[in-house]
Amino acid sequence: MALYAIGDTHLSLGGSKPMDVFGGAWKGYVEKLEEGFAPVQPEDTVVLCGDLSWGMSLQESREDFALLSQLPGKKILLKGNHDYWWTTASKMERFFREEGFDNLEILHNNSYVYGEYALCGTRGWFFEEEMKGADQKVLNRELIRLETSLKAAGDRRILCFLHYPPCYQGYRCEPILQLLEQYGVERCYYGHLHGASHRLAIQGKQGAVDYRLISADYLNFKPEKIYD
Ligand SMILES: [Fe+2]
Ligand SMILES: [Fe+2]
Repeated sequence: MALYAIGDTHLSLGGSKPMDVFGGAWKGYVEKLEEGFAPVQPEDTVVLCGDLSWGMSLQESREDFALLSQLPGKKILLKGNHDYWWTTASKMERFFREEGFDNLEILHNNSYVYGEYALCGTRGWFFEEEMKGADQKVLNRELIRLETSLKAAGDRRILCFLHYPPCYQGYRCEPILQLLEQYGVERCYYGHLHGASHRLAIQGKQGAVDYRLISADYLNFKPEKIYD
């Protein structure tokens, strides 16, 4: 039983935004993703850290979820800034059950037990949100979601998964970093950064927390093994 993480699959199987047009690492990315999942076993868990499908609704994303479901392992999904299909947890869970996507779960205001660890997380916050005009209220909502998830960990050791990097060259989201420290998070995995932005990622220990970038193009579409 192993634990993996990868973000930013950016699938568009039933839509018109395949990422292959960007070339480079994205050329043939669906096949690369399928190959990247080859070591994953059905009893393993893979946390998918947002920007999963370009679909605008659950229905539009159906083929993307079908692919994610066919890939081995239980997948725990969290929201990215491009996941417009995201709706209430109960609607998403009902859709997955009705479609037979039984190995897809939602990480939202909750946490999952993995051995001695709790898997916590939420979308997070990044300076791009401020540039888009998102305000303090949106940040506060994310902080509440993150803390609700961290509280759900109880006494367990915590691994945290975010879509947005909470720190980046020249940027620190202090309220999120503080929560991670306060709850004793051991490691924090994040996605969102692509291409040339990879080099601006902050990785390794900052304070007591160890940060790792796990966006799909950074990992060459091979989920990162976190725990055996
Ligand atoms: Fe993103
Ligand atoms: Fe992304």
